[in-house]
Amino acid sequence: MDNQKTNGFMKKSEKYWLIFEEKISEKRRQTNPYIDKVLKSENILINEEKIFETAGNWDKYFWNKNGIYLEIWTGLWNFFSNEIARIENKNFIWLELKYKRLFMTEKKTLEKLQTFWNSNKFVLLKTKWQNIDKFLSDEEIEKTYVFFPDPWGNKESQKKHRLFSEKFIKDLYAKTKNGWKLIFKTDHKEYFDTTLDLFEKVWLWKIILKSYDYENETDKFNIKEITEFEAIFREDRIKVNYVEFEK
Ligand SMILES: C[S@@+](CC[C@H](N)C(=O)[O-])C[C@H]1O[C@@H](n2cnc3c(N)ncnc32)[C@H](O)[C@@H]1O
Repeated sequence: MDNQKTNGFMKKSEKYWLIFEEKISEKRRQTNPYIDKVLKSENILINEEKIFETAGNWDKYFWNKNGIYLEIWTGLWNFFSNEIARIENKNFIWLELKYKRLFMTEKKTLEKLQTFWNSNKFVLLKTKWQNIDKFLSDEEIEKTYVFFPDPWGNKESQKKHRLFSEKFIKDLYAKTKNGWKLIFKTDHKEYFDTTLDLFEKVWLWKIILKSYDYENETDKFNIKEITEFEAIFREDRIKVNYVEFEK
């Protein structure tokens, strides 16, 4: 969280030490029409204090105990909206930071839910994955998807931005129910191998499936379930690395 200390948008919080609170100018609202749309949305939460206070109570937020799936690093709507339509009786929490992506993902998901009505519920959180220890309690989620996180460079100074660290792997393990899963996909082989090394070092998660070309080597590939980034890599014929872990 060191990078947050210098961020002018960080506000002191009695309970959480620092929370992100953006000051949005009139000019910015005019140039980015998605800001107001996000502020009005019932399915997108942007107030970090409220988001963190819900930790341990997401089942009450969703009004059911159906179980929660989490996607970190959501991006655009393709995977998100299809997954909700495809899987019955689960709740979904998705993390994204950009207003347009948040709003468009909500819009497309609501359109799809009308077509394939089921009892699923979802919320989009405008908060960083680095806050996983604050917005979730232990054993609160079932499955986590991490698809195509930016691999960052190979220099040590850049690597600190990478999503998978020993702390994050341990935190996510604590937040996951026993017997449930984490699925990670990336086009970047060095990032994939380095991540696997880290998981081996931490020695908590069990690998149940691993492939350096999952479309050709496994039965997990489904063209309808790919993300926007995966579609680009497929067009460029780049092989996708895939791993499924179990707690
Ligand atoms: C490389 S894209 C991948 C999107 C999607 N998973 C896909 O495969 O198409 C990364 C996304 O993560 C979001 N993001 C970047 N940093 C983040 C952070 N610290 N916490 C949560 N999301 C973040 C970005 O806004 C961007 O939409």
